Amino acid sequence: MSNDRIDSILQEERQFPPPSAFAQLARIRSASELAALRERAAADHTGFWAELARKELSWHTPFQTILDDSAAPRYQWFKEGTLNVSYNCLDRQLAERGDKTAIIFEGEPGDTRHITYAELHRDVCRFANALKAQGVAKGDRVVIYMPMIPEAVIAMQACARIGAIHSVVFGGFSAESLKDRIEDAGAKLLITADGGHRGGKIIELKAAADKALNHGCASIEKVIVYKRSGHGVPMQTGRDVWWSDTIADQAAQCEPVWVESEHPLFLLYTSGSTGKPKGIQHSSAGYLLGAVVTLQWVFDIRDDDVFWCTADVGWVTGHSYVAYGPLACGATMVIYEGSPAVPDTGRFWKVCQDHRVTIFYTAPTAIRALMKHGDAIPARYDLSTLRLLGSVGEPINPEAWMWYHRVIGRERCPIVDTWWQTETGAHMIAPVPGAVPTKPGSCTLPLPGIAADVVDEQGNSITTANQGGYLVIKKPWPFMLRTIWGDHERYIKTYWGKFGGQYYLAGDSARRDQDGYFWIMGRIDDVLNVSGHRLGTMEVESALVAHPRVAEAAVVGRPDDVKGETIFAYVVLRGERPPGGIDHALTEELRLWVAEQIGAIAKPDDIRYADNLPKTRSGKIMRRLLRSIAAGVAITQDTSTLENEAILLQLQGKQ
Ligand code: WTA
Repeated sequence: MSNDRIDSILQEERQFPPPSAFAQLARIRSASELAALRERAAADHTGFWAELARKELSWHTPFQTILDDSAAPRYQWFKEGTLNVSYNCLDRQLAERGDKTAIIFEGEPGDTRHITYAELHRDVCRFANALKAQGVAKGDRVVIYMPMIPEAVIAMQACARIGAIHSVVFGGFSAESLKDRIEDAGAKLLITADGGHRGGKIIELKAAADKALNHGCASIEKVIVYKRSGHGVPMQTGRDVWWSDTIADQAAQCEPVWVESEHPLFLLYTSGSTGKPKGIQHSSAGYLLGAVVTLQWVFDIRDDDVFWCTADVGWVTGHSYVAYGPLACGATMVIYEGSPAVPDTGRFWKVCQDHRVTIFYTAPTAIRALMKHGDAIPARYDLSTLRLLGSVGEPINPEAWMWYHRVIGRERCPIVDTWWQTETGAHMIAPVPGAVPTKPGSCTLPLPGIAADVVDEQGNSITTANQGGYLVIKKPWPFMLRTIWGDHERYIKTYWGKFGGQYYLAGDSARRDQDGYFWIMGRIDDVLNVSGHRLGTMEVESALVAHPRVAEAAVVGRPDDVKGETIFAYVVLRGERPPGGIDHALTEELRLWVAEQIGAIAKPDDIRYADNLPKTRSGKIMRRLLRSIAAGVAITQDTSTLENEAILLQLQGKQ
């Protein structure tokens, strides 16, 4: 047996065909319709994408070259074409949908606003004119550090309208992170707010922005401040201007700046596990095409839908499925400002009920957190308008999937588990819900035109069912990242280095089952190595989460002289943490449970109970940090972005 292969131990047999009531009305309503699309893509990869680009986007000037790969991996799609993303999102809707609601906004305190397409168009034009008046021009970088309110989308759209490149920094990031990103991007202007509502508190954005600007950020000339919290904030004369003042005299029309297909629409920084954040650079045309076609294929978006993606615009999900995709499709969407736990953990379900949400898209971390509070809370709400549920950000454990299916979807709604990344721009592997049977824990099959595969250390396709390997994409796709801002070498090394520039390396481990379904096993860097067996973190965690008392679990390897590594599990229980974090009987029960579920090889050697797991601001478990704790070595990771630093003591077994 080769030592580089990744073994799979998870057995998941449940399968759910598309509900017929759903499939009957779906855009793609059968396996054969989907197969026809796939075949078209397989027969003529670039022709397939060109046809979609002509059909789904409004061009100012048409493109001639579909794909220029002469400087690969700097791929260029739809060259010579010019268009404007904001025009595609807003102006296109005016004739038929001017009075249709584009955004239903609900603030955390409960305030609501409905904004029509005509109003949104006007507001974006006004603000775009304001940006120009502040000296912003095509190609300038603008950093957006805002609460999750419609003005965040307006700011992004206004940048797109004038060809400025935005970089949104999540409002939960510290002054230090904001400063690093502003400096790396060389941003000229910062858009922020006095503060936003989150978790029953005010997040003091302007204060953090001032701190960042006082310690550097020499490129910033102006700061535009939106008044949201109404708490007074100091304004620096000559630099800071109120949003309302900047738009006061601006016209409600703004001619879009027509940009080349490849013109950068935005940079979005991802932290990754090592090194400084990478400014992932996306294009205009190819990127928008990805958002549009995946909303059609995976979300089956219709004119009468009320679409709610809970992601903040600080993440890529909030770019593709809040700020751009839904608008380019003329959809109605919900934007909610705050935390899912304010005033109580029923808030998401209340928002779904009150605004008659039909498509709901969230992250496994939120699903598991809400699952922990039981079935009674969601049962209080009328969720009958829901027709489709989605998941993104991490592998969803089969038991969390089942809970989502049963308690939220009431066994009626298909679940789309969407695998993609900041770098991929839009969904890559995901079910087409009217055509593809789903399996809990699997993101199912690649979308048409997406050449995903699982390969071994040498880059050969793995044909043995359920043998794990590297997830790769073998052909360029229009919505892929173009480079890392200011560091093209790092782009080549990170994503194209491993297999000699041939394949895009996602950095995830995955396997395919006997039906060709993809199962993401975790990040390659997190793979466990126990007695010569390499195991993904996902499968052991899922076995733990399948135990009725477990809400969440994270497993890491701890160096061991004999086995290479032993498995160290951190567990969050449904209900109370045992006193002092010790419960020997339960620990023994869980170890046996894992052994029974997936085999003795995966039995955790240590289990530690905590109230919470350490997560990044986007909700991903920080396994690297847990590894240091398990090994008993000093913590070198930045823990300032943890939601709750106090749990570190629990995780270290000190409390
Ligand atoms: C993980 C989020 C399993 C994966 C859009 C990926 C997933 C990383 C899934 C990208 C999924 C995301 N199943 N794993 N459905 N979705 N991931 O850049 O490890 O924040 O590489 O983009 O999240 O995270 P990012």
